[in-house]
Amino acid sequence: MKNFQNKAKLSTYISLLKDRGTSIGFVPTMGALHNGHLSLVNQGLSENDIVVVSIFVNPTQFDNKEDLVKYPRTLEADIALLKTVGDDRIIVYAPTDEDIYGDNIKSQTFTFDGLEHEMEGAFRHGHFDGVGTIVKRLLEIVTPDAAYFGEKDFQQLQIIRKLVELHHLPVKIVGCPIHRADDGLAMSSRNARLTPKHRETASFIYKTLKTAKKKFGTKSAQGVTEWVTEQFKNEPLLELEYFLIADVKTLKPVKRKSTKKAYRAFIAVYAGDIRLIDNIALN
Ligand code: PAJ
Repeated sequence: MKNFQNKAKLSTYISLLKDRGTSIGFVPTMGALHNGHLSLVNQGLSENDIVVVSIFVNPTQFDNKEDLVKYPRTLEADIALLKTVGDDRIIVYAPTDEDIYGDNIKSQTFTFDGLEHEMEGAFRHGHFDGVGTIVKRLLEIVTPDAAYFGEKDFQQLQIIRKLVELHHLPVKIVGCPIHRADDGLAMSSRNARLTPKHRETASFIYKTLKTAKKKFGTKSAQGVTEWVTEQFKNEPLLELEYFLIADVKTLKPVKRKSTKKAYRAFIAVYAGDIRLIDNIALN
């Protein structure tokens, strides 16, 4: 498996591949890889000759310093895991902060037609400027034909689609379904930091989302939101940060349901000091 730390060397290698007509898929990650990441890599491998996986804990998208410091860094294990799915067709790009940012670790400021102000944007200040900055840079370095993002971070996926549209980036963005553990918890690099008790209780999040989906058939968005809020009051190990039902295009909270629109329920929960997010399609 080829492994690059330097963007110039990676770009030169990718140019050679492209000259030979090789198609390039791209999966950006922050490492601590799990089966959720691998499902994106596998989809990329099924649709492209080569998949580039970037592994970079991007400092500019962390609004919380402690979260950045404690974010798991497991490069060797990540590479070993990637070898199990496509040793000769995967390229790893694991740059240093300097290779990406030089000596100026700062985000650019973006607007994404208002998508950036909702949910994660409201609760994690500057987060999507950091995500926009790193994803735009990575897309410019890797120049893939297609890039793969998980619906696990649905708002991020919609923002990347908007980034590509507004900046006319020549890449196809592919959204991939949420990969879950057997008990329903959405896989996340942060799950490894849960205490056993919190890990066990965290399955409550998806269980509640599934019931909320059923209830949305007959209840208003407000009725469902009140019901979910009540459920979390009875669950002392989990603290609800937000639950809301939003239009998938605008990500604005739904006021009155329309049969012509598609909705999703979005949730953010603290399990101890670990913040977990999840979402579910409602119709
Ligand atoms: P990270 O959290 O490592 O996730 C990398 C990609 O894997 C994202 O597209 C994310 O949505 C997807 N993913 C994570 N867990 C998943 C799951 N359980 N099922 C399906 N897909 C899943 O998201 C980021 O990194 C960063 O913000 C990044 C885009 C790399 C920019 O720094």
